[in-house]
Amino acid sequence: MIAIASDHAGYELKEKLKKHLEEKGFEYRDFGTYSAESCDYPVFAKKACSAVISGECEKAVLVCGTGIGVSMAANKIKGIRAAVCSDTYSAKYTRLHNNANALCMGARVIGEGLAAEITDIFLTTPFEGGKHQRRIDMFE
Ligand code: RB5
Repeated sequence: MIAIASDHAGYELKEKLKKHLEEKGFEYRDFGTYSAESCDYPVFAKKACSAVISGECEKAVLVCGTGIGVSMAANKIKGIRAAVCSDTYSAKYTRLHNNANALCMGARVIGEGLAAEITDIFLTTPFEGGKHQRRIDMFE
């Protein structure tokens, strides 16, 4: 199960990504926001990331205007490793090396097609483990 959330700036892209996830056969739970009305991104980042921490969801996909606000909010939550990705290389390596469990994207930065590709790579690339686990352990 994938947790997905956005603020108003990311709302439209979130809706498109939901369709994409359905087409790809990923199950998701939408933690809001549910309209393009102005709202506060930390609220929605926290809701989705809490579902990752509780084990209800495996990973979170978060969207705001830049991807930065949701990533900052998400990274305040113990156990969340959130990465802003605007390219496929970063999406691949933040899974391989950082075992990132929250993908953050900026709806005002990248288009729908790239966001979908980044999401696919993020959701399907495994963590490499080994020395990378040791480094991640140092975060805590
Ligand atoms: C909203 O205008 C915008 O500030 C927000 O979506 C996000 O980009 C913050 O980092």
